[in-house]
Amino acid sequence: MKKGHVLITGGAGFIGSHLTDLLIERGFEVTVLDCLADQVHADAEMDADGWPVYLNPKAHRIKGNILDANVFEQALKGITHLAHLAASVGVGQSMTNIVEYTCNNAMGAAVILETLSKMKLEPGGLHPIRRMAVASSMSIYGEGEYRRADGVGGSIAPGLRANADLKSRLWELSEGGSSLEPIPTTEAKPLQPASVYAINKRDHEEMFLSVGRALEIPTVALRLFNAYGSRQALSNPYTGVAAIFISRLLNDQPPIVFEDGEQRRDFVHVMDVANAFATILESEKQIWDVYNVGSGRSITVNEIARTLARLLRKNIAPEVLNKYRVGDIRHCFADISKLERDFGIRPQRDFEQGMEELIAWVAKARKPIDKSNRSMAELEASKLVV
Ligand SMILES: NC(=O)c1ccc[n+]([C@@H]2O[C@H](COP(=O)([O-])OP(=O)(O)OC[C@H]3O[C@@H](n4cnc5c(N)ncnc54)[C@H](O)[C@@H]3O)[C@@H](O)[C@H]2O)c1
Repeated sequence: MKKGHVLITGGAGFIGSHLTDLLIERGFEVTVLDCLADQVHADAEMDADGWPVYLNPKAHRIKGNILDANVFEQALKGITHLAHLAASVGVGQSMTNIVEYTCNNAMGAAVILETLSKMKLEPGGLHPIRRMAVASSMSIYGEGEYRRADGVGGSIAPGLRANADLKSRLWELSEGGSSLEPIPTTEAKPLQPASVYAINKRDHEEMFLSVGRALEIPTVALRLFNAYGSRQALSNPYTGVAAIFISRLLNDQPPIVFEDGEQRRDFVHVMDVANAFATILESEKQIWDVYNVGSGRSITVNEIARTLARLLRKNIAPEVLNKYRVGDIRHCFADISKLERDFGIRPQRDFEQGMEELIAWVAKARKPIDKSNRSMAELEASKLVV
């Protein structure tokens, strides 16, 4: 007897496909709904039916767009749990393709939620969907949490950096003449999204929580930090930084680093992300809440570039641009204690081991096409790299 039937929107993508594997392993039936967006899948290895070769053969597959209410309604037949991951995911690209991003991300959420609100209830007034988990993002925080370097006072949630400071190449934050140092960011930090993608993600997190409460469907939004691992679209120049750097290095080009490369991020293994989704979908807790999903460890962008070059055996140093990308924040890494306290979930993969696994996968994957120059030219033409 199956534990339930999960519909994963965006289930053919990087995180969705790993979640598919894990849920099937844990005894769920899984249906993947994915439009197989060109930007993500065009250069990937596909099977005869046009699906990524890595997709679990036990998953049911529907090729369709969440923006099509009829498709989504049909996909919901027999579904008990929903994992919503489908989205356009490029922070930089969202600052130029604003209609596309807002349509796919915010309208996508709207179509899903309106369809759920019209579903026939089961006897006893229960909604047929028993639980939802939605992919949110650390980008909704804007800057992470800080404290004064002189130790005076507690946690600070600074505003976004001033354009004048960025133009003077003052990358680090300060307050009242005292420099600030980053500390792990908690879910309580006020949200200050700095890009259209981040605004979309904040909106769709809040839309899911609000409609989930109204329909009495327990709902959790997972604020994912930087996920890395196998199956990330290496030829997509708008995707995660680890994949973009790998693509550059494999094409004997230096990873391009904004600012001075000393900005800190939190890289979490994709299986730890999948585990957070699966454990929450399996749980019976009646909650409507948000959780960080990170490794709890911070690392600089320069360190990522150097680690990948070493593992790929490329003697190529990163190209430090000393320019900033509009919408980027300086430091943000996760406080992961809430997820552990409420669900007992802790990251299992250590960074070095995870990166080695990623490189082992890259060695077997199709050589990526480096499209960074094109995306950089687009950003520069739109005055988004200064
Ligand atoms: N990868 C990360 O580091 C990260 C960090 C924070 C948040 N997230 C979120 O996690 C989710 C999954 O990210 P990912 O890295 O796996 O991205 P991905 O691009 O690999 O996967 C997204 C999938 O969604 C599909 N899709 C997009 N729009 C669709 C639509 N309208 N209808 C149907 N399918 C559609 C794409 O074809 C793709 O297969 C996204 O919501 C993203 O915003 C990811």
